[in-house]
Amino acid sequence: MAITEWSDDFKIGEKEVDKEHWGLFALINDLAEKHAIGADKASLDSTLKALIAYVDVHFEHEERLMEETGYPKLEEHKKIHAALDQKVDEFHNDFENSPETFDYDKLMEFLSTWLSHHILKVDMDYANYLKESHPERASQEAARVSQEY
Ligand SMILES: [Fe+2]
Ligand SMILES: [Fe+2]
Repeated sequence: MAITEWSDDFKIGEKEVDKEHWGLFALINDLAEKHAIGADKASLDSTLKALIAYVDVHFEHEERLMEETGYPKLEEHKKIHAALDQKVDEFHNDFENSPETFDYDKLMEFLSTWLSHHILKVDMDYANYLKESHPERASQEAARVSQEY
């Protein structure tokens, strides 16, 4: 069972960003499912590394977009992203150093809570800024938002 269910509530109205958020949910759920079926360390590690790499790609994309559109809270948002990067790296190090005692539940709870909160509050603030300051872009994007996921 998926630990974090994706729903339309998470769509911020930027097609590529929404797709990436959906992808992050999918990777977190992959990890949870692999853990639930007792997958080996190498398999868990590869999903965790894929998640970390995808988080980086997503954060870079979001920050680039914010820069291009003049988002006044860019620096604040970057700091929040950097703190998450650091936390995930810590989890990853713990996992590599002692996979037998690694606390998956703690990682899963952290990732799912963080992702939901970040999208619904922090990324949504950017989406609201875009709607107000770049209404044409926001409505074009809204029309492009995918129905596929
Ligand atoms: Fe973000
Ligand atoms: Fe995001």
